[in-house]
Amino acid sequence: SIPVITIDGPSGAGKGTIARLLAEQLGWHLLDSGAIYRVLAVAIHHHQLSLDDEEPLVPVAAHLDVQFEISSQGEAKVILEGEDVTDIIRTEEIGELASKVAAFPRVREALLRRQRAFRVSPGLIADGRDMGTVVFTNAQVKVFLTASAEERAQRRFNQLKEKGIDVNIGRLLNDIRQRDERDQNRKVAPLVPAEGALIIDSTDISIEEVVNEILIFANG
Ligand code: CDP
Repeated sequence: SIPVITIDGPSGAGKGTIARLLAEQLGWHLLDSGAIYRVLAVAIHHHQLSLDDEEPLVPVAAHLDVQFEISSQGEAKVILEGEDVTDIIRTEEIGELASKVAAFPRVREALLRRQRAFRVSPGLIADGRDMGTVVFTNAQVKVFLTASAEERAQRRFNQLKEKGIDVNIGRLLNDIRQRDERDQNRKVAPLVPAEGALIIDSTDISIEEVVNEILIFANG
C-alpha cells in the first residue's frame, strides 16, 4: 500500500516543521490534521454553534468545505468556503476551540475519510495526535515526537516573538499544560504513542537530528 509516516505528539513538539521537511525531502504529500480541526473550529464559530452539544457539530465536520492550496508565491494557504483562513486558524483562540472540538468522538469519526484521502502516491507524511493510533493504523513508520513542556513553551514564545507578538511565557506554559491534559485524558483518541512507534524527545536535539533519526528508522 501507499507508504505513510505518521508523526504524533503534544502541542508545540515541532511536528509541523519536521513533517514539512520530511515531505519536502521525500517529495511526499503532507497532512496537517491539526489544521483540519482548526478549520472546523472556525466553521463552528461562523455558524455560531455552541460546544455544549455534539449533535449539530457532526454535519459541519462531515461537510467541511476546506481546501489546502499553494499560492502563486509558493505559500501554503488554507481556504474555508472560499475564504482565506490561513492566519485566523493559527490564533490561540482558535487553537483552544479546536482542542475542545477534537474531544467529540462523532466529530472525529466524521473527519476520518477526509484525512485518509490524503494517502496518495508516492507517499504521505501525516502530522497530528492520532495519526498512528487511529487514522493510519497500518502505517509502515510511526513516530512519537515530544519535548518538555518548558521547551515547547519557549519555542512557541520564540515563534510568536518573530511575528512581533508579545506574550507572557508563563501563560504559554500554562496553556500547553492544559492542552496536554485535554489531549491525554480525552475518552476518544487520547494522545499516546502508537504501538511500535519510534519515540523521540526533541528537548535537546536539533531539527536536522530529528529528521535524520526518522529517515534512518524508516530505512532500517
Ligand atoms: O498547535 P497545536 O499543536 O496545539 O495544535 P494543532 O496540532 O494545530 O491541533 C489543534 C488541536 O486539534 C489540538 O489541540 C488537538 O487537540 C487537536 N487535534 C487532534 O485531536 N487530533 C489530531 N490528529 C490533530 C489535532
